[in-house]
Amino acid sequence: VQQVLFKNPNEPPVVFHWLPVVGSTMTYGIDPFKFFFDCQAKYGDVYTFILLGRKVTVYLGSKGNQFILNGKLKDINAEEIYSVLTTPVFGKDVVYDVPIAKFMEQKKFIKSGLQSGALPTYVPLMQDEARDFIKGDLRFKGSCGTVQIPKVMAQITIFTASRCLQGIEVRRKLDNTFADLYHALDDGFQPINFMLPWFPLPQNRRRDIAQKKMTQIYADIIKARRAGAEKDCEDMLWSLMGSVYKDGTPMPDSEIAHMMIALLMAGQHSSSVTSSWIMLHLAAQPEIMEELYQEQLSVLGDASSPFTYEDIQKLPLVTNVIRETLRLHPPIHSILRKVKNPLPIEGTSWVVPPSHVLLAAPATMGKSDEYFPNADKWDPHRWEAMADPADQEKEKMDYGYGLVSTGADSTYLPFGAGRHRCIGEQFAYVQLTVVVTVMVREFKLKNVEGKSGVVATDYSSLFSRPMEPAFVQWESR
Ligand code: HEM
Repeated sequence: VQQVLFKNPNEPPVVFHWLPVVGSTMTYGIDPFKFFFDCQAKYGDVYTFILLGRKVTVYLGSKGNQFILNGKLKDINAEEIYSVLTTPVFGKDVVYDVPIAKFMEQKKFIKSGLQSGALPTYVPLMQDEARDFIKGDLRFKGSCGTVQIPKVMAQITIFTASRCLQGIEVRRKLDNTFADLYHALDDGFQPINFMLPWFPLPQNRRRDIAQKKMTQIYADIIKARRAGAEKDCEDMLWSLMGSVYKDGTPMPDSEIAHMMIALLMAGQHSSSVTSSWIMLHLAAQPEIMEELYQEQLSVLGDASSPFTYEDIQKLPLVTNVIRETLRLHPPIHSILRKVKNPLPIEGTSWVVPPSHVLLAAPATMGKSDEYFPNADKWDPHRWEAMADPADQEKEKMDYGYGLVSTGADSTYLPFGAGRHRCIGEQFAYVQLTVVVTVMVREFKLKNVEGKSGVVATDYSSLFSRPMEPAFVQWESR
């Protein structure tokens, strides 16, 4: 009744719900993709739902991605949505805590440490980290066993990423205090912190203490480096320490520290959950793992010598395994923006008012049979017959941090599009390729007795991840 009486013909249809404030929070939260598709079938590509009292307008399809991800700065805003979650974790004066023009300059600073020039130097470091981890981890003692794969991949991810991005000093501290601080921060980086930022959760106090301590750790490392510590390799910290804003101001040490925390959080989850999904699929389809092994043998000549950045460019099946996994298991299912001005939706009489939040879900296209036949099937080989996704993203624009793909038209956008597009894509591909290559040469994986396929998705954290427990059986090669 409420919805019939208050339906506004000038606004997109509202998803039916019984409870006013709760709205569709539960159905969206439990399985956002099912929710998006069910609503699309009833209401079309544009509809509004209630998420804990907020009106969220979803706009699906290429037009929706274009509308939201490439919206004008004056109309659409990311920082007003995300900063309640990110500022207490990252710290002040970085990312969504600063005006967008300043953040775009900061993105430019980090881009240089994350992209092609630095990547070749990262490959041997990551390889050593991944191999040393496997050799030293008690869970891999003996010739076969069973492991909770997400736990293993989370550790391999943090060790491989931190060595290159966070620097050797942080890598050394990872075995003790730093890891605890990381977990305390991570506990404060949950949907509940986003939805109810004012709620005095007990973990928020631990988060705030950890944020201060971690900032201090970085500040001390920066100080030691500035006082003459030897620069024996490139890493993100060195790169930020040499960064200067357009107005001539060097990036202050506190901002560098906060940016390092931001990178730690941004990169860790998405790469870690992706590598877990890859391992789960390889365990469910061991024939693909065998093909990956054969690819190494035929391209690299053997599967035991160290490999280089150039070598991993020649492993198309690994690339397709990553692509296919990101299609089926995109770590980020919803991209949110605050509406700043009334926004008419072309071809309709609807206007999205400034009180609404906009939600883009480009990943729905990746899960649709219309664009990816037999979309539910994990089949890395499907990409052999398809254009490279990078070629689909033709339009480029400079938002202040170099040319960025605005190509919101693509049916495959796991890294987003427009000014907020991911700058970690190349780094993530290199990291995932190294980790997969090392795992493939060390192990054969299979599902535990009596299980088939892969576990369901747990959407309860900010990044979609495998539902735990998620065990696989391993056997040394
Ligand atoms: C932005 C996905 C890895 C840093 C984004 C966005 C997506 C995404 C979808 C757009 C968010 C939005 O528009 O609101 C992924 C995936 C990854 C990955 C799927 C790995 C598989 C990384 C890594 C880093 C990173 C490794 C850094 C070390 C960033 C940054 C942004 C971003 C700085 C920009 C946020 C903005 O401009 O608002 N990522 N990411 N990402 N990502 Fe990633």
